[in-house]
Amino acid sequence: MSLLRAFIAIELPHSIQSAIEKATSTLRAELGATVRWTAVQNIHLTLKFLGGISPASAEEVTQLLRAEADSIPAFDIHVSGLGSFPNLKMPRILWVGIQAPTGLEALRRGIESACGRLGYEPEPRDFSPHLTIGRVKQDASSVERGKIRRALEAVTIDSLGTARVDSVHLFKSALKPSGAVYTKLFFAPLKNPGG
Ligand code: 2AM
Repeated sequence: MSLLRAFIAIELPHSIQSAIEKATSTLRAELGATVRWTAVQNIHLTLKFLGGISPASAEEVTQLLRAEADSIPAFDIHVSGLGSFPNLKMPRILWVGIQAPTGLEALRRGIESACGRLGYEPEPRDFSPHLTIGRVKQDASSVERGKIRRALEAVTIDSLGTARVDSVHLFKSALKPSGAVYTKLFFAPLKNPGG
């Protein structure tokens, strides 16, 4: 049976993706090939990575998303700040930050619990909402990592805008030599706050 590599995420408006592209252009030019940069149209807010799942499991996931999304009213997220995981000294994942009301954590927790009931592995780490903009190549030397740290320290990213979150998506990820290609499989609307 063919499995599809899937994850649950919040899609970002093009205006925010472009603002991130603009704000990080110097960093991208300066660090070049030591970082695998996320294609701008692929920047999203991941809530749960599912891994390889069957079409029947994908169907179950759509049902859980429908139920969880329907229990959380739509909310706004703000995009600002720049950092790296696990920390600045040892940069592996470069990210732009998200500031969100409690609705985001409630949505993520509901999805995590529902996925747990379906048998998906729990997330080993605490949720730290972020937008991955690049991944440092595994073979980067300590000199290159030092350069990345200094470049990150030299850049400040102020507010890049606010986005309305009114739905949550199930994405398929196809890994190609040229990079990941994400396809939207399904979306569930959040509760209308007025309705
Ligand atoms: P992140 O980059 O936002 O941290 C699709 O691959 C998305 O799933 C990525 O954006 C990544 O989130 C997330 N993800 C979480 N765990 C993963 C894993 N083990 N392998 C690949 N992607 C993972």
